[in-house]
Amino acid sequence: MTDTMDAITADRALKAKHRAMWGLGDYPSVARDLIPELGRVLVAAAGVRRGERVLDVAAGTGNAAVPAALTGAEVVASDLTPELFTAGREFAASQGAQLTWEEGDAEALPYPDASFDVVLSCVGVMFAPHHQKAADELARVCRPGGRIGLISWTPEGFVGEMFRTMKPYAPPPPPGAQPPPLWGDEQHVRQLLGDRVTDVVARRQIVTTGGWTSPDAWRDHWKSVYGPTIATYRNIAGAPERVAALDRDLAALAGRYDRGNGTTVLDWEYLLLTARRA
Ligand SMILES: C[S@@+](CC[C@H](N)C(=O)[O-])C[C@H]1O[C@@H](n2cnc3c(N)ncnc32)[C@H](O)[C@@H]1O
Repeated sequence: MTDTMDAITADRALKAKHRAMWGLGDYPSVARDLIPELGRVLVAAAGVRRGERVLDVAAGTGNAAVPAALTGAEVVASDLTPELFTAGREFAASQGAQLTWEEGDAEALPYPDASFDVVLSCVGVMFAPHHQKAADELARVCRPGGRIGLISWTPEGFVGEMFRTMKPYAPPPPPGAQPPPLWGDEQHVRQLLGDRVTDVVARRQIVTTGGWTSPDAWRDHWKSVYGPTIATYRNIAGAPERVAALDRDLAALAGRYDRGNGTTVLDWEYLLLTARRA
C-alpha cells in the first residue's frame, strides 16, 4: 500500500514538473510559426470526417485538434498543460473552429473505453514518460474499427538529435521513463500497440523550418521558446562553462543540418503512423 502511494505521489510530482516545463517559454509560437502543417497532415492522413468523435492527445494549442474540428468532427483537445489552452482557444476562434478543451494525462485519459472514432497525437503523446501506459490508453479509448494517427519526431532526425545533444546537460530522467523520440521508431510503436491494431501504415516525412539568420540565431530563439530546452539550460545555469558548451553543441547541430542560402533552413524528420483499432 505504501509503495503504491509512493508511486502515485512520485508520478504526480513528475507530471507537475512536465506541466511546468511545457508552460515555459512560448510553445504556442512553435506550433503557430514552425510546425503548423503537421496538424493538417495528421488530420488528412487519419481521414477525419464530419460527425466523428475525435480525441487529440497532448494537443497543446490544438495543432491537430483545430483542423480536425474544421472538418465538422466533434473534437476534444486534451493536454497535461491547460496553460496552453488560452492560445489554443484564440487559434480556434481565429479559424472559426469549435471544440472542447480538457486537461488530461495521456497515461490516464479521463474517458471511458471506446469513446472516440479517431485518436490523434501530433508530436504529443511521445512526451509522456511511460510509453506502454500511454499506448494502452490510446488503444483503450479508441473504438474497435476506429483509427489512431500519430506524428512523432524520429530518433535519427533533427529533433531526435537535439534531444540527444541536450541529454548530458539535462536532469537525469526518472526511473522507467523512456526517451520521447523512440515513438518515431516504427517498430517501437508497433510493439507498443501490438495486436490491438491492424492496417499499420508508417512513413517518414519532413517538415521544413527556417527564417533564422544563422545556426546561432536558431539556438538563441529555440532556447527562449521551447520548454525542454529552457529546462535543460536551467539545469546547468550555475555552470557557465557547461552553458557555453551546450550553446556550442546546439549551434553545431543546426550548422550541420542547415541547408539554407543566407538564412538557416532546417529539415525536421518525423514518423507519420496510422492504424486501425482491431
Ligand atoms: C511538442 S508539444 C505538442 C503539442 C501539439 N500537439 C502540437 O502539435 O503543437 C507536446 C505537448 O505534450 C504535452 N504533454 C506532455 N506530457 C504529457 C502527458 N503526460 N499527458 C498529456 N500531455 C502531455 C505538453 O503539455 C505539450 O502540449
